[in-house]
Amino acid sequence: MADPDLTKIAYKTIQQGKSLAGLAHKQISSKLMEYLAPEAIPNTSPIPSDTLNELRRSIDDLADLDWQEAEQGIYPKSQLFDIPWLEWAARYPLLWLDLPSTWQRRKSKETRSIPKQIDQEAYPNYYLQNFHHQTDGYLSDHSAGLYDIQVEILFNGTADSMRRRIIAPLKRGLKRFSDRSPGSLKVLDVATGTGRTLKQIRSTLKDVELFGIDLSGSYLRQASQYLNTKGTKFTQLIRGNAEFMPFEDQSMQAVTCVFLLHELPPNIRQKVLNECWRVLEPGGIFILADSIQTSDSPQFESILNDFHKVFHEPYYNNYINDDIEAKLLNSGFNAIKSQSHFMTKVWSATKSV
Ligand SMILES: C[S@@+](CC[C@H](N)C(=O)[O-])C[C@H]1O[C@@H](n2cnc3c(N)ncnc32)[C@H](O)[C@@H]1O
Repeated sequence: MADPDLTKIAYKTIQQGKSLAGLAHKQISSKLMEYLAPEAIPNTSPIPSDTLNELRRSIDDLADLDWQEAEQGIYPKSQLFDIPWLEWAARYPLLWLDLPSTWQRRKSKETRSIPKQIDQEAYPNYYLQNFHHQTDGYLSDHSAGLYDIQVEILFNGTADSMRRRIIAPLKRGLKRFSDRSPGSLKVLDVATGTGRTLKQIRSTLKDVELFGIDLSGSYLRQASQYLNTKGTKFTQLIRGNAEFMPFEDQSMQAVTCVFLLHELPPNIRQKVLNECWRVLEPGGIFILADSIQTSDSPQFESILNDFHKVFHEPYYNNYINDDIEAKLLNSGFNAIKSQSHFMTKVWSATKSV
C-alpha cells in the first residue's frame, strides 16, 4: 500500500462518500415516495438533533477504529477498499426500478410475496417473508444482486466496517489453537448471505478452512462469485438451516454469525445458538454480531423502536429487548463479552474445555 497518510485520507474520503451517497439515496427515495406513494410513508417520529449528532459521532468512532485495527495489522488495509464498485454501479438502477413494488408491499402490508416456484416445504415458515420488504424475500438472484447495496445504503456505507468488528475477537480466540497448522483450523460463518463476512475472514486468515451456511441458494451463488476466485483457497458454501447444521459435533474451532438473530423468532434464536455451541470444539470461539439493543444503546431507542415501521422486520422489536447473554449462557457458552459499534453489537463467547 502507498503512503499511510494518503491511504488514510483515501479511506476516510471513501467512507464519507459512501455515507453521503446513502443519505442522498434515502432522501431522494423518500421524496419520491411522498409524491408517488404517500400511503406507503411509515409513521415514524423525527430524529432529534442530539440523536443525529450522536449517530454522526458513532460513525466517526467506527471509521477511526476500523482504520486503527487495519494499521495494527489485524486485517490487511486493502480490505478497507474491497468494494465491487463496478458491479454495484451496474446494479444500482435496479434498486430504483424495484422501489414501486417495495412501496406497494409496504402500503398493502403484503409480507409473504415469495416466488411461486419456491418449494415452501423446504424452508421454515418464519423465513418465507419479504424481510425489509425486499422483492422475493431472500429467495431469488434478483434479491441477492441488490442485497449488499441495500445494506450499505441502510447503514450509510458502514456495513462492512461493522462486520469487520468480528475479526479482532476471532483472531484472539483462534490463538488458543496456535500450536496447530492454520490449514487445519475450521471456521464457520452461519447465515453467511452474500459472503461479505467470509470475504473479510478469508483476506485475513488466508489458510484456514472456511465454511458458510445459509438457507438461500441465490445468496450463496452470489457469495461463491465473490469468494471462490482464482488464487484464493476454496470456501465451502452449504445450503442449510442454522437450526440443524450438517456439521459434526465439535468440528469447528470458530463460529461467526452476523445479522441473523434479529430475523429469527425468539425460540429459534435459542435453537441456533445451541447449534453453534454444538459444532464448536471445546476451547473454540463464537462471535455474534447483530443490531444494537435498547438496554445498551438507550440514546438510539427511538430509532430502534421505529426500525420495524420502515422495514418489514417481524422479530426486530422482540430482538432489541431480548437477553442474548442469557441465551448464550443457556446454550452453554461462557466468558461472554459484548461491545457496540454504531448500529452493531458484537458478542464473543467461548465453549469451555
Ligand atoms: C440479514 S441477512 C445477513 C447476511 C450476512 N450475514 C450479512 O452480514 O449480510 C440474514 C441471512 O440469514 C439467512 N437466514 C435466515 N434464517 C436462516 C436460517 N434459519 N438458517 C440459515 N440461514 C438463514 C438469510 O437467508 C440471509 O442470508
